[in-house]
Amino acid sequence: MTNDNIHRQALTGARLPATPAVAGMVMIVLGMLSSSGGSLAVAQPQDRVPPAASPAKPAEAPPLKEALPDGFLLGAALDYPRRFPASASRDVALVTRHFNAITPENGMKPMALQPVEGRFHFADADRLVELAENHGATPIGHCLVWHSQTPRWFFEGPDGQPAGRELALARLRKHIAVVVGHFKGRVKQWDVVNEAISDAPGQLLRPSPWLQAIGEDYLAEAFRAAHEADPDAILILNDYGIELRHKRRKVLELLRSLIEQKVPIHAVGIQAHWRMDHPDFAEVEESIRQFAALGLTVMITELDIGVLPTNYRGADIAKAENPKTGQRSVMNPYPEGLPDAVAQQHAERYRQAFAMFMRHKDSLGRVTFWGVHDGRSWLNNFPIRGRTDYPLLFDRQGQPKPAFFAVMQALQPPAAATPLDSQPPSDPPTAPHGR
Ligand code: XIL
Repeated sequence: MTNDNIHRQALTGARLPATPAVAGMVMIVLGMLSSSGGSLAVAQPQDRVPPAASPAKPAEAPPLKEALPDGFLLGAALDYPRRFPASASRDVALVTRHFNAITPENGMKPMALQPVEGRFHFADADRLVELAENHGATPIGHCLVWHSQTPRWFFEGPDGQPAGRELALARLRKHIAVVVGHFKGRVKQWDVVNEAISDAPGQLLRPSPWLQAIGEDYLAEAFRAAHEADPDAILILNDYGIELRHKRRKVLELLRSLIEQKVPIHAVGIQAHWRMDHPDFAEVEESIRQFAALGLTVMITELDIGVLPTNYRGADIAKAENPKTGQRSVMNPYPEGLPDAVAQQHAERYRQAFAMFMRHKDSLGRVTFWGVHDGRSWLNNFPIRGRTDYPLLFDRQGQPKPAFFAVMQALQPPAAATPLDSQPPSDPPTAPHGR
């Protein structure tokens, strides 16, 4: 049996069946979207128009999670609301309505969980896991071993010199044992090692402090420690840019070697910090095929599609850009709002992405968005601080964007998606839904 088969069951911590009513409502909304030239900002399904006397309150968009194929996880990254109290309840409501998986955006990183050696802080992460469980969503763990957002003490010896192999390895094992052990049976999937592959030509592994302190086997050691702490958890190698040829070659080499050494690795995570013109989806499809051919599940772990110009492609958070003062408006072209034409192109890009995901749904375990709505996206501050980006499905007011409806459309099986034009908006939602 392949890893994929062994773990397919565990992938689906929360299964939410698609319903015919949702499919029908989507079709009505989509019909309205196309008849309004695509500029509809708020869903107004016919069967939910409020009575004339009630105050105008936008109808809520139909839940994305109810349009998914059986067993498919669609997630969003969210920090525990304490970090953003003002908009917290709205963000939580959006996440729990539309998604059936939740990844802590920052709250389970080494810096958050073990800022000082031996002092673990689980309170916020616990509350997020509880929130997910209370709403039937699968909690995802991100991330155990990374070069970034990891306190320096992990890599320092008692004399202030760099920690040697034994000390660093003991710390790596302890961090993983305590953290994975703490969430055992509850956090179903872990990004065990994040961003280990090098971007430099001819170099396989990033020269991270982990590699420098321990050596190449830090990856195998990390996966073994995680498996020991929770044998049922899905263990993921997560990275950006591995859907592109030059980095794909490297990650395939690493994965083959780990599998050959019988390291417990079950999935590969493509972060998917994408842009309007990049990457070519044919490359992504090729990567999904090749990763799946190794017997691994493929996860799309941090999806967003940024619309702003940048010289840098990827997600290496060390690579901030500093535009010259005169360049600022060129680099931040939409501070007041996204032009409708760009919003439509953005929606089309998302539609194509999700059509691709659905074509490969048997190889994919999960697609997670990196954030909830545009106002909370990390891309507003990366790789340039203080810009206004529009990478997600919900706008800054939490309203569904054209991209939302495009994703909803792409999630529909072909039989339900075709008769859009022939379906009068006043028909009851009767379209069949299934796989
Ligand atoms: C980002 C968060 O979204 C930001 O809030 C934080 O300031 C920096 O990290 N790749 C990853 C994620 O694996 O953990 C990063 O998240 C984005 C890039």
